[in-house]
Amino acid sequence: MVDTDDKWIVERTGISQRFIANAEETTATLGADAAREALDIANISPDDLDLIIVATCTPEHHFPSTASIIQDALGARNAGAFDISAACTGFVYALSIASQAIQAATMNTVLVIGAETLSKIVNWDDRGTCVLFGDGAGAFVLQGSYDPGGVRTSVLRSDGSGRDLLKVPAGGSAIPASYDTIRDNLHCIQMNGREVFRFATRVMADACRDVVSAAGLTMEDIDVIVPHQANKRIIEAAARGLRLPIDKFIVNLDRYGNTSAASIPIALCEAVSEGRVRPNDNLVLVAFGGGLTWGASLVTWDVTPQPPLTGLRRFRRQALYRVARMRSAVRRGARAIEGTIWGSQAPDGMEPPRRDRT
Ligand code: COA
Repeated sequence: MVDTDDKWIVERTGISQRFIANAEETTATLGADAAREALDIANISPDDLDLIIVATCTPEHHFPSTASIIQDALGARNAGAFDISAACTGFVYALSIASQAIQAATMNTVLVIGAETLSKIVNWDDRGTCVLFGDGAGAFVLQGSYDPGGVRTSVLRSDGSGRDLLKVPAGGSAIPASYDTIRDNLHCIQMNGREVFRFATRVMADACRDVVSAAGLTMEDIDVIVPHQANKRIIEAAARGLRLPIDKFIVNLDRYGNTSAASIPIALCEAVSEGRVRPNDNLVLVAFGGGLTWGASLVTWDVTPQPPLTGLRRFRRQALYRVARMRSAVRRGARAIEGTIWGSQAPDGMEPPRRDRT
């Protein structure tokens, strides 16, 4: 146990509770659950998806991507899939890429997921970080439309000179995993809290102003701001810097902690279901995080509500996911059998050299 107390955590961060994944729950399982809910609400079949992007800094593995694992779980047979690594700014980056793919008309329907299991990379002996982070996932479906609205513009920024302020040092090519890295907790989050705090308070307001002016709007046109949920004091400082009332900001970190790339989609989903976001509202989604990275998207909320999936249609959708699971198992089985019968190809894709017959 670290030397801390509830009063300090609530006063200094605003966090009261968090969701912590159990041993069976992973970034992909949380992300797939959020994706299924988003597809149900949008009334879109997994077969209609052209692309799945997962923003995460706690991926299932280095590779394959968490997005590919979720694509398989959904049975999204026509979709490409990849992950984005931009730490807590990941969801804003993913949203920007998804909307640009749609605007370029190369994709029509894109699923964007923010999913994290940060509890699995927290050093539970470090009181400076272990009280902050939580697990969770949120997802949105973006679809092309001739109506004005949706993601209007984004600003994406990075300053890699700040890479040491917030990082997981080991497990990549710079410091490969070893006995020493595990002993020294180098696979866990390390953070210079004070410096990250200073950086965050500066860039949150800047990114909001930049994206609003890039969209040709003014701050008066903004109805709701959905900030990355890291620390209540950072959000309050941004509100002061922008001279906006704090009730324009969606704040739910008291119940989730910092869920990194999942924090904005979780907060936005809650805001929508609580009726705090209405049609034609202008929203700013704004985030900052490791990299250092930061960015913002300006979204005009333009969602045609779909009738909820009920009865037979809900049952059909569940059956579809069961079929996807079976199809995946059959494919893996078939691959194993093929490998046994035909043998594996040589690693360079060439046929193995034939043995000379004598
Ligand atoms: N419980 C009790 N005391 C704690 C503590 C904890 N969990 N964590 C730190 N402290 C102590 C420090 O050791 C320090 O003690 P000292 O003065 O004896 O050295 C004191 O509290 C003040 O430390 P400081 O780092 O100045 O606290 P803070 O008010 O800046 O709050 C953070 C610390 C981490 C909450 C704050 O810096 C923060 O939120 N930073 C940004 C983090 C963030 O957003 N990260 C994610 C980016 S995506």
